[in-house]
Amino acid sequence: MHRRDFLKYSAALGAFSMLPAWGRVIPAAKRPTLPIPELLTPDAQSKIRLTAQAGASQFNGQKVATWGYNGNLLGPAVKLTSGKPVTVEIRNALPEETTVHWHGVEIPGEVDGGPQGVIASGATRTVSFTPQQRAATCWFHPHQHGKTGHQVAMGLAGLVLIEDVESLQLMLPKQWGIDDVPLIIQDKKFTADGNIDYQLDVMSAAVGWFGDTLLCNGVAYPQHNAPKGWLRLRLLNGCNARTLKIAASDNRPLYVVASDGGLLPEPVKVSELPLLTGERFEVLVDTSDSKPFDIVTLPVNQMGMAIAPFDKPQPVVRIQPLVIPASGSLPDTLVKAPALPSLDGLQARWLQLMMDPMLDMMGMQALQEKYGEQALAGHQQHMQMMGQMNHGHGHGMDFHNANKINGKAFEMNAPAFNVAKGQYERWTLSGEGDMMLHPFHIHGTQFRILTENGKPPAAHRAGWKDTVWVEGARSEVLVRFDHVAPAEHAYMAHCHLLEHEDTGMMLGFTVS
Ligand code: C2O
Ligand code: CU
Ligand code: CU
Repeated sequence: MHRRDFLKYSAALGAFSMLPAWGRVIPAAKRPTLPIPELLTPDAQSKIRLTAQAGASQFNGQKVATWGYNGNLLGPAVKLTSGKPVTVEIRNALPEETTVHWHGVEIPGEVDGGPQGVIASGATRTVSFTPQQRAATCWFHPHQHGKTGHQVAMGLAGLVLIEDVESLQLMLPKQWGIDDVPLIIQDKKFTADGNIDYQLDVMSAAVGWFGDTLLCNGVAYPQHNAPKGWLRLRLLNGCNARTLKIAASDNRPLYVVASDGGLLPEPVKVSELPLLTGERFEVLVDTSDSKPFDIVTLPVNQMGMAIAPFDKPQPVVRIQPLVIPASGSLPDTLVKAPALPSLDGLQARWLQLMMDPMLDMMGMQALQEKYGEQALAGHQQHMQMMGQMNHGHGHGMDFHNANKINGKAFEMNAPAFNVAKGQYERWTLSGEGDMMLHPFHIHGTQFRILTENGKPPAAHRAGWKDTVWVEGARSEVLVRFDHVAPAEHAYMAHCHLLEHEDTGMMLGFTVS
């Protein structure tokens, strides 16, 4: 981040902390209560039922058509135990095809729910698997190729909580919805006639779809009353494209205890926590001073994402400590982190993320025309450069296939390579050549980040991850796949900025 931006942001934060944190803007009595997704555990037959369905939700007193799993918006939190089999019966009651992908869950390609796991409208697909991994907060969402962004924006997303023996033994807060609280954070935008205002076009294919309203578990700026003491927040960035930067409004520290794929060796204290789309972090916050505060997202330096109101900190949820004491604590140490294996002689792969330069330029132009200079977040020079390079070559660009990996837009029936099961590999994800932020995600694995944008990963990003930050530079990950994925149900590796994914920045690969 440029120093100038930093000063601007910290000044904004300073002014913001002095306010009674919106206390006067929305009287407490009118603030909605934070909705808590229902826990869904396998029944006596180890079965879980999910229905993707159309419904409606209220936003600002207006009725809006939304989609959800087993409800109108979002979905339940599916709670699984490592080592225990589960069978999920997925019914598609939507008017179109969908798939259900288990993001972060290490299961065979066959049941992973990628773009080949299509469930026709009206049909049911049943998948059985046994999670074998460490305790983690994962999630499920549609992966219908070309439609993922729209279906997620409509409201389809739910959590997967995996528990194991170790996680149950720790004294971490564990009372669901009380001191163990999920925060699914998403931005949305509505049309005047009560629909979610989604477009996949040149602009969103370039910078991603973003909204002007921030929701937490499906409602704007709710309140959560928490016992006084340690509060565990399971954060999910469920936005299509927007990077979040989570903080407490009064700057109190956040103790990161887990990343995408599980617990860290020890808590990592941060005051700001960037969260890329698709990422999860679990943090503990100390509320023992009994003072209310907000969890907020601070402005980020991402193309298109500093447009008002996101040029200022936005509240996510108000935390109001209660008189009753909480029961969990912050352990000094969490779980043992296995040492990284030797990197000598590992199979290496290079994935070059690419945007058609024409799309890059036209997308930025559209952004500038609609929202003005500031929307470019300091990338004006880059745009001018692109403009010169592309002068007169703008015809016939197909934006649906304008995002690529290694020169190819996603091809459903042509897996890019095969990986040997159980073998470590070293993958380099390169974003050199464009200025966009690519949260890169790989199916079927929890990996370790070796370098992130050319630097060693931050302490809280050095544990189990399924998404890595790629922005104008190279990031390297150490991957291993312990399950098979045949060509008919290949694993995916893709940018989790959903509009990049939907317009080609994805490849399939097999594991055998
Ligand atoms: Cu969260 Cu391939 O996706
Ligand atoms: Cu995934
Ligand atoms: Cu991307």
